[in-house]
Amino acid sequence: MEVRTPPQQTVPRKQLDELTILYQFSNTMLSTIRLNKLTHLILTALTSRTTGIFERAMLFLRNEKSGMLQGMLGITRDTAEGLKVVGGDDALSSRWDMDDDAIVHQRESAFSKHVRSTRIEAGADCTIMRRVVREHRLYALGEDGCQVCESCDFIQRLGITAFAVAPLVARDKALGIIVVDNPVSNKLIGRDDLHFLQLIANQAGMAVENSMLYNRIEEAHSNLRDARERLVHGERLAAIGEMAANLAHELKNPLVTIGGFAGRLVKGLASDSREHQYADTIVKEIGRLERMLADILGFSRKPTICYSNCDVGDILEDCFASCATTLEDHGVTLARSFEDGPWPTLGDAYQLKQVFLNIMLNACEAMSDGGSLHVSLRKVSLDKKCILVSIRDSGGGIPADMLPRIFTPFFTTKPHGTGLGLAIVNRILQNHGGSIEARNEGSGAVFTVILQQAETP
Ligand SMILES: Nc1ncnc2c1ncn2[C@@H]1O[C@H](COP(=O)(O)OP(=O)(O)OP(=O)(O)O)[C@@H](O)[C@H]1O
Ligand SMILES: [Mg+2]
Repeated sequence: MEVRTPPQQTVPRKQLDELTILYQFSNTMLSTIRLNKLTHLILTALTSRTTGIFERAMLFLRNEKSGMLQGMLGITRDTAEGLKVVGGDDALSSRWDMDDDAIVHQRESAFSKHVRSTRIEAGADCTIMRRVVREHRLYALGEDGCQVCESCDFIQRLGITAFAVAPLVARDKALGIIVVDNPVSNKLIGRDDLHFLQLIANQAGMAVENSMLYNRIEEAHSNLRDARERLVHGERLAAIGEMAANLAHELKNPLVTIGGFAGRLVKGLASDSREHQYADTIVKEIGRLERMLADILGFSRKPTICYSNCDVGDILEDCFASCATTLEDHGVTLARSFEDGPWPTLGDAYQLKQVFLNIMLNACEAMSDGGSLHVSLRKVSLDKKCILVSIRDSGGGIPADMLPRIFTPFFTTKPHGTGLGLAIVNRILQNHGGSIEARNEGSGAVFTVILQQAETP
């Protein structure tokens, strides 16, 4: 019996080449996750001398909120270089890759910069928008070019006449468009070319979507890592705070005893003797240590607020009385401008006094050779009705690199400071739903305190 072999079907060379390119493109899309590299690979594949069939390719991504198409990258045949085949000898397993240098070179090209500065803010009658972005269909235009809107940035800026546009679609959503044209040879874009473009764009859409999702996961991961680091740092600070509080508590009793005995010595010794002077120094230094320990204990204790209706003007007057001698000792003149009182707030008057006193004492300490302290008080309307107190000194200000750290516990530039004054101020104001800001102005620092205004009965 005669056995007949079926006639051998030969695939035309061009089709075979295109199939190889599509295989390699598909492998490339599956193995490249970085959006930046991916966009370069897509456009290079469309334009390079070995794989591409177009002279220029441009990528525009769609801004989901505004709907506008923003130029991201443009590649011409001259810049479509650096494509390497890696990962296997045959087309089924090999893919393309590019070096970072080639990517930078493409990105920095004049054409790519030009594309990046182009947006398509097309209206409802724009064919590209309607047909490509909304209906997800390919669109090709002949030599006459687009006549719809003559002022179109896209057509004018990029010198486009005949061109084709393919949508980048993923999960039924248009992520952007790829535009291709042949401005050098003016070769017409044929049906086969469009077919090829469509196949490439279909695969590129999914790859771009995956890459965007991956970027979002990476961003979320990095935010999570930062939050974790902040938490660990916070826990460490809390542990240090607890240790400091325990230490302060243990030191308090022996200090009281030492201070008490030193006080008795002062009383028993002749006032002009050296021993009297020594004992007096011990008493003063013990007093300073006790105040410091009280600050540390106060800061580490859970804050309790005794709310009452108070007037910020009265609290400030009380502060002026308390620091009158300090102001005098430092040669500081006090000026006040209180506008349209009363200034009612609901808060703990004792703690609020501590806030303004700490700020004023810092100002005095910054003006050891004299100066001026200006305190102003007024009502302001922010998102709520508020009371604003600004305390301005002429003590030279706070160095810019230190400004962000002055509210951090234990940050001090003073030899005998604990660095808790402003940390306590900040904590009290936060507990009162208020805020504080520091800045430099003129010859000194300005602290602005904002408190919520209470309703007047
Ligand atoms: N008015 C100001 N002018 C210049 N620097 C200031 C002023 N107020 C605060 N600072 C800076 O901020 C730092 C922190 O102030 P904070 O009141 O927290 O601590 P301290 O005054 O150093 O010590 P403590 O108040 O605990 O005795 C100060 O050491 C100082 O460097
Ligand atoms: Mg202080």
